[in-house]
Amino acid sequence: MTARIISGTEVAKEVRARIARDVAELRQARGVTPGLVTIIVGDNPASVSYVTGKQRTAKELGFYSVQDDQPEDVSEEKLLGLIEKYNNDPAIHGILVQLPLPPHINETRVLYAIDPDKDVDGFHPANLGRLMIGEARFYPCTPFGIRELLVRSGVETKGAEVVVVGRSNIVGKPISMMLVQKEANANATVTMCHTATRDLAAHTRRADILIVAAGRPRAVTADMVKEGAVVIDVGVNRIGVTPEGKAKLCGDVDFEAVKDKASFITPVPGGVGPMTITMLMQNTLKAAQIAAGGK
Ligand SMILES: NC(=O)c1ccc[n+]([C@@H]2O[C@H](COP(=O)([O-])OP(=O)(O)OC[C@H]3O[C@@H](n4cnc5c(N)ncnc54)[C@H](OP(=O)(O)O)[C@@H]3O)[C@@H](O)[C@H]2O)c1
Repeated sequence: MTARIISGTEVAKEVRARIARDVAELRQARGVTPGLVTIIVGDNPASVSYVTGKQRTAKELGFYSVQDDQPEDVSEEKLLGLIEKYNNDPAIHGILVQLPLPPHINETRVLYAIDPDKDVDGFHPANLGRLMIGEARFYPCTPFGIRELLVRSGVETKGAEVVVVGRSNIVGKPISMMLVQKEANANATVTMCHTATRDLAAHTRRADILIVAAGRPRAVTADMVKEGAVVIDVGVNRIGVTPEGKAKLCGDVDFEAVKDKASFITPVPGGVGPMTITMLMQNTLKAAQIAAGGK
């Protein structure tokens, strides 16, 4: 079997076109433009590149977007004050603090300070708690993107054996919680694996849908995958530099070998990655729609 490639780049394009239409409609109907602020502390190149991508996309889709750059040595109190300011700013519907933060700042305190109604990253415990009880408001963006890829590829999740490799708070746990809910586009039987899992391959081989977010280059090999499985590779691993000087990336799945066994597979790059920013925009649009009295 040769897998169909799920192109996150293509799906993201479709979703973004729809978001841009909804943004224009919201502006026309209610006079509201979704506003997103991205706060970045210091000049970590990866963080700067992520934030630049988020700001560019926000502008392209017609959002009001603000980038708030803070120096590496900004105090926690100042950062908390800024968050308070944006919490009270009616033009801002989504607040994103780019992680990681420098060690002198307590990341948890900062994330907890964001108004849950503006927590478009979906990391606030109030939003993760709502997700857990099936009343989600904002899904964390990467899991949201993964589910969108499954839905738009026509993959049936109801009753499916889903195996998730990884249990981080930003990917493994939330995608597992989302797919186990008794609701549409979910209702799966979910197994979460991690480094203490005794026989990883025994679990992955049972998966109808295998979601890998381990951060280990090509850790999932063809012998670990069931014939016809749907394979979603979340991993982004830098494994060198291309002749053009760009970072050379690979996923957590041995794509070349697994694609001959899977029914669907996401590539790296161009799979889950482009969906993450897109779903951030979707969450910000939703926050603005709620604030405008809709949805
Ligand atoms: N495309 C995107 O937009 C996007 C977004 C987020 C993350 N990512 C990528 O996705 C990957 C995972 O990210 P993350 O933030 O979830 O990573 P993380 O916080 O490092 O968590 C990795 C998880 O994988 C588990 N794990 C690691 N090696 C394993 C192994 N050999 N067998 C079984 N489980 C193993 C760990 O288990 P323990 O809990 O036992 O340590 C942990 O739960 C990274 O490559 C990251 O760059 C991509």
